[in-house]
Amino acid sequence: MTAIKTGSRILILDFGSQYTQLIARRLRELKVYCEIYPCDAPLARIREFEPKGIVLSGGPYSVYDKGAPGLSAAGKADGKTASGDLFGLAVPVLGICYGMQYLARRFGGTVISARAREYGRAFIRRPADAKSALLPAEFMGGAANQKANQKIEKLQTWMSHGDEIGKIPKGFRLTAISHNGSPAAMEDSARGLYAVQFHPEVAHTEKGIEIFENFAYRICGLKPDWDMHSFLEEQVRLVREKVGAARAICAISGGVDSTVAATLVNRAIGSRLTCIFVNNGLLRKDEAVEVVRAYKKHLKLNVKLVDAEKRFLSALKGVTDPEKKRKIIGREFIRVFEAEARKVRGARFLVQGTLYPDVIESVPPPREVSGASGSAGFSSTIKSHHNVGGLPADMKFALIEPLRELFKDEVRALGRELSVPPGILRRHPFPGPGLAVRVMGEVTRERLDILREADSIFTEEIHRAGLYDEIWQAFVAYLPIRSVGVMGDGRTFDHVVALRAVTSQDGMTADWYPFEPEFLAHVSNRITGNVRGVNRVVYDVSSKPPSTIEWE
Ligand code: XMP
Repeated sequence: MTAIKTGSRILILDFGSQYTQLIARRLRELKVYCEIYPCDAPLARIREFEPKGIVLSGGPYSVYDKGAPGLSAAGKADGKTASGDLFGLAVPVLGICYGMQYLARRFGGTVISARAREYGRAFIRRPADAKSALLPAEFMGGAANQKANQKIEKLQTWMSHGDEIGKIPKGFRLTAISHNGSPAAMEDSARGLYAVQFHPEVAHTEKGIEIFENFAYRICGLKPDWDMHSFLEEQVRLVREKVGAARAICAISGGVDSTVAATLVNRAIGSRLTCIFVNNGLLRKDEAVEVVRAYKKHLKLNVKLVDAEKRFLSALKGVTDPEKKRKIIGREFIRVFEAEARKVRGARFLVQGTLYPDVIESVPPPREVSGASGSAGFSSTIKSHHNVGGLPADMKFALIEPLRELFKDEVRALGRELSVPPGILRRHPFPGPGLAVRVMGEVTRERLDILREADSIFTEEIHRAGLYDEIWQAFVAYLPIRSVGVMGDGRTFDHVVALRAVTSQDGMTADWYPFEPEFLAHVSNRITGNVRGVNRVVYDVSSKPPSTIEWE
């Protein structure tokens, strides 16, 4: 699928910073379309993108490192530009951190080992008489209110650098200095070159968003015209063009990404899209029926429910190792999906809910660069995530990935545009291997049923308490041990289940949710009172790290 061609387009060239994706997030928050290319992307590819502005990211290198990353067409390290180099495109450039040092070196300045290495919080101030179209107006003394000026005499920024600019290149002006006396920002407005040593993309930099706003709107002259409505129209048009009169198939799971991708393609080609929902027997209580009903009723999708419960459970019989379980489930899924896909005559396209973070071409960390010669050492590795990527080679589908330019929160916004029910857009993440990784030890029908009952009580109570949206994920895990209890006048020797609920931003780190004791007591009573075979409920109070969110 070709990239979208809206008016406002900024290209981010990545030098390997951990914050590069944040730059893209900030620009898109400003409704400016942007993409990330590796820094050594060929000039022809950059031209084809038609950027109205270019951002050079930070990176974990020194510009003098052997094999340090550079642009494919940077031109000579002097003050001149030529039509055959990136700076000859006459497009405004913003260099951030390493990007600033790269600009300094390219335009005849010097970069030295920092006299005071700055990591984390650093305050910057304005040199006397400095002017800047990039830095926040209040900081530059441009605000009408004198008091406001005084407040922003010192701006908090976030730094992470071991090198600094020694000599500013000819034609550039210093526009900010750090409290350690290091150059913190410089610009050459005549040539449209701007640079900051700090990271305006991170939340800890005060007024960072204003810096991007100034760059995009004032300096590049862009308008906030990237929105989900125009994105949707463009994608629907592209899908129609690509599929023509053929058919497409899509595996849907009830999760946000596959649902939004399928709904978009359905809008483009209607019932020529066949969606396949596999019930692997590892879903939550009533999930298969409810999800398929929602797909048909609200989204008018052409869905086929495939019941493969027996097949998955017999393949999992006797298996206790978590990784083996995952492998078996993946393998069986491909077999089932393949058999179903073959039944859809004329299907030539496979729809997938791949997101932008899965396809950004990444620049590896310095360790992998050392010893490599020139730019070949960091030429891009494409991380490609395929939900059903292991399909056999003779199944030749062309891929349709309408979400591959979007971040997760943008997918939710697109879902709203497509009228996907809020219940689906707000759903907690659910792992592909389903309840199999929540039953410790062997997965059996009996254990799954116990888990489903307990899980449905826990989830219902969370909804009832109005806590669902505050929590990233909440579920129950089944433990393969028994403990002694007393019910009525009799002794019991029954199963234990663990409640797990966490808060998280992205699933990478997580903290346990601090429920009120009364809430936990109520859930525990309901589970032990209603789920036969459970006489003990425990609450998991572990964060990630050192634990993980799931138990397996
Ligand atoms: P962990 O347990 O590693 O999980 O802290 C982080 C997030 O990933 C989900 N998860 C999976 N998702 N297939 C998936 O599609 C898997 O095998 C899998 N394992 C974990 C987990 O639910 C959490 O949101």
